[in-house]
Amino acid sequence: RGRGRVTVYEVGPRDGLQNEKQPVPLAAKIRLVDLLSASGLTKIEAGSFVSGKWVPQMASSDAVLGGISKKPGVVYAALTPNLRGFEAALAAGADEVAVFGAASEAFSRRNVNCDVEESLRRFKPVAEAALKAKVPLRGYVSCVLGCPYQGKVSHSAVTSVAHRLLELGCYEVSLGDTIGVGTPDTMSRLLESLLNSGLRPTHLAAHCHNTNGQALANISAALRFELRTIDASVAGLGGCPYAGPGASGNVATEAVVAMLHSNGYETGIDATKLGEAGDFIRGVLTCVSYSILMIHLCGR
Ligand code: HMG
Ligand code: MG
Repeated sequence: RGRGRVTVYEVGPRDGLQNEKQPVPLAAKIRLVDLLSASGLTKIEAGSFVSGKWVPQMASSDAVLGGISKKPGVVYAALTPNLRGFEAALAAGADEVAVFGAASEAFSRRNVNCDVEESLRRFKPVAEAALKAKVPLRGYVSCVLGCPYQGKVSHSAVTSVAHRLLELGCYEVSLGDTIGVGTPDTMSRLLESLLNSGLRPTHLAAHCHNTNGQALANISAALRFELRTIDASVAGLGGCPYAGPGASGNVATEAVVAMLHSNGYETGIDATKLGEAGDFIRGVLTCVSYSILMIHLCGR
């Protein structure tokens, strides 16, 4: 029943942890990435080079990239919203970088403090620098199936940003259902529009959040449209800090891998080892929450 290969793009150390309010120890972040590397994942988004004031949890991304044991064949990626972020990511040893835009003006302003056009303008020098340094560039489009601030998002807005990101030099555009409001039907109609606009399935990845429990169904829809890169976050951690209340919960990598394997897709991932990474980070977050609770209850 072999149905071919699917690349699972692990975003837990970035999209998962960026939303954690409590500080997660650096050693735990490093161990998490190392456990994920050991599971057979080949793409791991290890951090984000954004403002530490905006996303404090990601301020240690250079130390994470510097502290991990890089496994040959694994690509360690990072988000880079501007040239400063790109240069820092490169210095820290990122193998791949990503720029992140949105199909919603309201979300763009909250997330990167400027409108969509200006965000694309800021990505241009990143793209030029990545091309020069021969660093693969990925692109994200957020809010492809709905926005927490403006509600509906048109297919033409998604299509336009996706094309612009590819024109900048992104090898792939990841379609973010940032607040998990999509359904298999809305995902399918969006993909129909994108593919009718001239994009190919190999240009696209699905990045589904599981807020309404629809992520696996939406991913199945994406697979039916021949998309073969699926973003996921170990232990279902996280979400975007600027997506507002209720936006938490990326789709869990463990669930995606189980679904893919049971449907005959190959991933190269060892589900048991992946489970160990999930257990590890769940344990860390429980300990961190428990310590904070004890401080509140017992005083310092
Ligand atoms: P800005 O205010 O427009 O730009 O922020 P700025 O150049 O005026 O910089 C503001 C401050 O950030 C300054 O510091 C800069 O020095 C500093 P201050 O003067 O206030 O002390 N700064 C930086 N610091 C470190 N690294 C940098 C950097 N650049 C500027 N690279 C900016 C623009 C993009 C920086 C800001 O809005 C920001 O950091 N936003 C964070 C957005 C973010 O990380 N969101 C989460 C990731 S996106 C996501 O989760 C969605 C996704 O998963 C897909 C999906 O689910 O849809 C990808
Ligand atoms: Mg996300």
